[in-house]
Amino acid sequence: MTQSLTDRFGRIHDYLRISVTDRCNLRCVYCMPEEGMEFEPEERLLRFDEIAEVVRVLAGFGVRKLRLTGGEPLVRKNLEQLVGMLSVIPGIEDIALTTNGIYFASRAEKLRSAGLTRINISLDSLRPDRFSLITRGGDITRVLASIEEAVRVGLDPIKLNVVLMKGLNDDEIDDFLQLTLERKLNVRFIEYMPIGHDDNGWKTKYIPLSTVLERCEQRGWTVEAYEQGLRGNGPSQNYRIAGAAGTFGLIHPVSDHFCETCNRLRLTADGNIKPCLYWSDEFNVRKYIGDDRALAELFFRALDVKPESHEMAKALLNESQSHTPTVRRMSQIGG
Ligand code: GTP
Ligand code: 5AD
Ligand code: SF4
Repeated sequence: MTQSLTDRFGRIHDYLRISVTDRCNLRCVYCMPEEGMEFEPEERLLRFDEIAEVVRVLAGFGVRKLRLTGGEPLVRKNLEQLVGMLSVIPGIEDIALTTNGIYFASRAEKLRSAGLTRINISLDSLRPDRFSLITRGGDITRVLASIEEAVRVGLDPIKLNVVLMKGLNDDEIDDFLQLTLERKLNVRFIEYMPIGHDDNGWKTKYIPLSTVLERCEQRGWTVEAYEQGLRGNGPSQNYRIAGAAGTFGLIHPVSDHFCETCNRLRLTADGNIKPCLYWSDEFNVRKYIGDDRALAELFFRALDVKPESHEMAKALLNESQSHTPTVRRMSQIGG
C-alpha cells in the first residue's frame, strides 16, 4: 500500500487545488481592490508540464481529486490542454473547475472532452445590474449561458457559489432558494472570509449563514439534510427543500469551521504549496520538480506545519491569532 499524505492530526489529503493563474477578468468587490492588482509575470507561473509532474508524484501518494482555480482559470491559455494532461495521470478520478463563468460557455464542450468532470460557478446575484456592481462590470447573461452549457455537456453536479454580504445581496436568499426548487443545481451560500486583506468592510458585510435556514423557516419550507450525490467532500453542509429539484449548501468557515475533516492541499500559480488557505506558510516546489522523492518530501514538510484549524472568527473579534494570516488575496490562492 502506498503512503498517504497524512498530517499530524490524522487528516488524509487526497485533494489538490491548483491555481493556474492569479489573473482575473473581473474584480469582485470581496476579492480584488477596485484599482486592480499587480499580476505575476507569465514566466513565474508553473508551466503545464510542471503542474502535471507535481500531480503525477502526488497521485502516487493517494491524491485522487483535482480542482483548477485562479484568479479565473479560463484566462490561462489552452486550459483544455492542461485538463487533458491531468486526466490521463493514473489515479486521478475527478477534475473540477471553479470559474466565474464568463468564458466557460464556448469552451464547455472541449473541456468536457478533455476530461473535466465538475464545475463550480460563482454567481453572487441573480439581478443583472447588481451582478455587474459586485463583479465591477461582469455580464450576467454570459454566466447564465455557461450554466446552461454545463448542463448540456453533462457536468454533474453543478455548484453555484454565492458569497453572502450584508446589504449587498442578502435580500436575494429567497431567490436563490427558489432557484433550487426549480432547477437541479446546488446553490452554496458562503460566508464572507477575511482572507488576505485587512478590510474593515469585511466586518460590516459579514453575516452568519444561520440566516439562510431562518429564511426557510419563515417561508414554511421543510428542509432536509442532503449528503448523497454531491461528490467533493468539500466544506459544504448540504440541504434540500422538500420537493426541490436542486439542493443548497452552507459553507461557514467563520462561524463554524470544518477544518477537522480538511482533505485539501493547495498549489499557487507561482508554485507554492499552501497547506492551509488561511495561514501564511508556503513551500515553493519549483526547484524540486524532476526529483520525485524530494518533491514528495516537500509536501510532507508542508503537511507537518499544517495547523489544526484556522482562527478566522478571532479576526472578527480583533483577537490575536496563533499563526500569521496570509497576506495573499483570494485571487492569488484560488479559494
Ligand atoms: P468541492 O467540494 O470539490 O466541490 O469543492 P469546494 O466546495 O471546496 O469548492 P469551491 O472552490 O467552489 O469553494 C467554495 C468556497 O469554499 C470558496 O469560497 C472557498 O474558498 C471555500 N473553501 C474551500 N475549501 C476551503 C478550505 O479548505 N478552507 C476554507 N476556509 N474555505 C474553503
Ligand atoms: N470570502 C468568501 N468567499 C470568497 N471567494 C473569493 N473571495 C472570498 C471571500 N473573501 C469565493 C468566490 C469563489 C470561490 C473560489 O471563492 O466567490 O466562488
Ligand atoms: Fe483546511 Fe485551513 Fe481550510 Fe481549515 S482553513 S479547512 S485547515 S485549508
